[in-house]
Amino acid sequence: MVNTLKKPEFDEIREGVKVPAKETILTPRFYTTDFDEMAKMDVSLNEDELRALLAEFKADYNQKHFVRDERFDQSWDHIDGETRRLFIEFLERSCTAEFSGFLLYKELGRRLKDKNPLLAEGFNLMSRDEARHAGFLNKAMTDFKLSLDLGFLTKSRSYTFFKPKFIFYATYLSEKIGYWRYITIYRHLEKNPQDCIYPIFKFFENWCQDENRHGDFFDAVLKSQPDFINNLKSRLWCRFFLLSVFATMYLNDTQRSGFYESIGLDAREYDKEVIEKTNDTAGRIFPVILDVNHPKFYACLEHCVANNEKLRAIDAQENTPQALKILQKLPAFLNNGIQFLQLYLIKPINTAQLEGSIR
Ligand SMILES: [Fe+2]
Ligand SMILES: [Fe+2]
Repeated sequence: MVNTLKKPEFDEIREGVKVPAKETILTPRFYTTDFDEMAKMDVSLNEDELRALLAEFKADYNQKHFVRDERFDQSWDHIDGETRRLFIEFLERSCTAEFSGFLLYKELGRRLKDKNPLLAEGFNLMSRDEARHAGFLNKAMTDFKLSLDLGFLTKSRSYTFFKPKFIFYATYLSEKIGYWRYITIYRHLEKNPQDCIYPIFKFFENWCQDENRHGDFFDAVLKSQPDFINNLKSRLWCRFFLLSVFATMYLNDTQRSGFYESIGLDAREYDKEVIEKTNDTAGRIFPVILDVNHPKFYACLEHCVANNEKLRAIDAQENTPQALKILQKLPAFLNNGIQFLQLYLIKPINTAQLEGSIR
């Protein structure tokens, strides 16, 4: 008998190659930037720290880390049904996010090679790490009899343009939040080994150190550009990026709470921990961080979660014309906008005031 139950219904481009998940506002993004402006950036103000970080990258501590060992040599068919679907989705989303980092860093390394060799070298070395991460995740997908065609993904995805300044806010935060996401899962499973139902999580401890170093590299770049972090505009943008990154993660993860449950985590508790840690870390370089303990913070996010549930329910209606769906969605969209504005207006925490305290 063909065991169809164990293979969730995913569309395939060809046998075993998954059609990439539909792009939405919440799926991992691919970025491009103004390469000429980036090439002209003068990072000499913080050159020593950048060179020290390059030396760390070159030491390549994880060169031999991403090797699939005997722990993977078994059938994973017992992870089935909804858990299997959520697992594949987790692997795909993680792979796409890692691969998006690879593509951006690789392109920056290539384009800046002659004009800004210091930055170019950093980007090249980080792209090396991201390629390993994406490759390891894609290989893990084959344990579930699927994989992503990364060449196809490169060509088919749309790219979001960000000015260099915004690229640095976004990549800094995504590296640091990536670090906290991986290490939080790792530490939880270390304490609760019975929840470690698949060996990839055992790799997260060293893996997250790559992300931490990448984040430190962007921290050092930001320090070399005082204009990016010490004026009113930068304070407003830092708030915006912090909020966007936190809200996107919260909406994504609450929607997939089943995945976190399958490894013994509560999605909301997990996200709160990751948000708090990332916010604190960002305070080392951003001029402001968010007041995530403000009573309105998670209350507003929960309104957005409810709105998104409504939006998904409307999307799922089979016989409703597209135009009518848009009309039905309008109130939830509007309310999301209101919630986001309220969140943005919560008085931020000025990190200059925190100097001297432990962060
Ligand atoms: Fe990575
Ligand atoms: Fe990274």
